[in-house]
Amino acid sequence: MRMNIVAGNWKMNTTVSEGVKLVSEIVEKSKDLSNVKLIVAPPFTHILSVGEKIKGSEIGLSSQNCADEAQGAYTGEVSAKMLADAGVEYAIIGHSERREYYKESSEVLLKKIKLALANGISPIFCIGENLDEREKNRHFEVVKKQIEEVIFNVDENDFEKIIIAYEPVWAIGTGKTATSEQAQEIHAYIRNVLLEKFGKKAENTSILYGGSCKPSNAKEIFSQSDVDGGLIGGASLNADDFIAIAKSF
Ligand code: 13P
Repeated sequence: MRMNIVAGNWKMNTTVSEGVKLVSEIVEKSKDLSNVKLIVAPPFTHILSVGEKIKGSEIGLSSQNCADEAQGAYTGEVSAKMLADAGVEYAIIGHSERREYYKESSEVLLKKIKLALANGISPIFCIGENLDEREKNRHFEVVKKQIEEVIFNVDENDFEKIIIAYEPVWAIGTGKTATSEQAQEIHAYIRNVLLEKFGKKAENTSILYGGSCKPSNAKEIFSQSDVDGGLIGGASLNADDFIAIAKSF
């Protein structure tokens, strides 16, 4: 069974106390939610305190990144093993902000995914084209390449643990959303690429949409058959908006 997921990527926002307040509200307001898995992805510094607040709830804990090396002299990095030890169950990997600002290549992303999986963490692997690529009608080939270079190199037995997030760069933080037709078209295409490589298992892969998703447009986007939820940035920083999005299923 494919899982409906709404994940909040807090990015570099909130202090620890603000994050704890936010997640406490989310816990409180999500008690009657049943057909959707909620995940929160706070900054590294908040992982333990946020993890403490969601104990006993169904909410999943994600990091926004993990190191591409297992351990050792890599100043400033946080390993997948450390994250797993701190209670992290998911890791956002390959977000367009990491690809663009920190020049993370497919090679690096594959190392991160393998380390996450080896430590029992489910990767939320982000893909998506930029505006120029969309305008040149290259979006299909771009996402295919992003998948082939990374996901096709993951052990077949681990494939079921992977969640995909399609986030068109032109829709992130811009207020512009893909139409539900655009989202369905490319999500179906992504699933097809996965089906060709991994067979029927890809029917169960959750493919999330991300990019200016909010309470006013979530219902329309989530109603599409190959859209299994959302990866939410800005709107995940407000508990009411985040829950309203989750209630759009
Ligand atoms: P916004 O929802 O702020 O557009 O961000 C989307 C995103 O990048 C989630 O990872």
